[in-house]
Amino acid sequence: MADRDDALRAALLAHGTSDHYTDPRLYDYEYRDRVGDVIWYRALARDRGRGLRVLELGAGTGRVTLALLADGHHLTALDRMRPMLDRLREKTANDPAAARLTPVLADLRRLPLEDDAFDLVIAPFNTLQHLYTADDLLRCFREVARVLAPGGAFAFDVMLPDLDWLTWDPESRHGVSAFVHPVTGERMIYSTNHTYDHHTQVCHIRIYYDDPTPRSDEFIPPPEPRALVHLAHRQIFPEELRALIPRAGLVLDSLDGDFQGRRLAEEIESMVALCHKPRVHRP
Ligand SMILES: C[S@@+](CC[C@H](N)C(=O)[O-])C[C@H]1O[C@@H](n2cnc3c(N)ncnc32)[C@H](O)[C@@H]1O
Repeated sequence: MADRDDALRAALLAHGTSDHYTDPRLYDYEYRDRVGDVIWYRALARDRGRGLRVLELGAGTGRVTLALLADGHHLTALDRMRPMLDRLREKTANDPAAARLTPVLADLRRLPLEDDAFDLVIAPFNTLQHLYTADDLLRCFREVARVLAPGGAFAFDVMLPDLDWLTWDPESRHGVSAFVHPVTGERMIYSTNHTYDHHTQVCHIRIYYDDPTPRSDEFIPPPEPRALVHLAHRQIFPEELRALIPRAGLVLDSLDGDFQGRRLAEEIESMVALCHKPRVHRP
């Protein structure tokens, strides 16, 4: 029984770390309005100097990468999903700045990169929530500490666990909205719900794509969705970050809310962490 549960959980995590990243054009469409984080990462890099060597972990289709590239930095864009990196390459195909871009297909827990090679490492938009155990998160932090140059900075944002939202009814649908697929032109209804696994701290989000209903003001989910995308996000609590970051040999300089330096509180959506690697680093 335990074996079967473990196998089911592993299958869910496999889907939860891949499904959402197999249709990069839909990904770009769904997050087209998310800009506050891009402004913040851009300012962070600009304040640290010109022509920085930047590593982006989970770079995806380049939502943040392309802004930093446009500012003259050298970008190593690492991701485990080939479709996402292919889309990034496509976007820069005719851009001379692509000479400063190195896409790398790899895993966050094992970076195929030299020691001390980067001035800045970033992991925007919940990327680290795809590491499903505290050990994996620590492995990633240790890799970051290894590849950062002494004095270099590491910044990332993850969701602040929202205890009310996590325990919503897993059956009801939220965020119901009609949209047109950016490539196929098909009309669809988007909706989500989620189940929180208290044991593993993983929230299993289901994103449903359904056919439009005759009356747009009333959506009754069909028994079988047209398409179902699984997205698994491990919840990371502030104290976990305060414990793991120093264990990796990094210094946590700040842990604030929503890219505005706000204190973590109920209304905050994202935790934004800023760390550095000490000039004398003891792994
Ligand atoms: C939410 S997206 C963020 C993409 C991009 N940084 C952005 O802000 O739009 C998370 C990205 O992390 C990548 N990812 C997830 N787990 C990973 C892993 N273990 N190793 C490398 N990349 C991973 C996904 O493929 C995806 O492109």
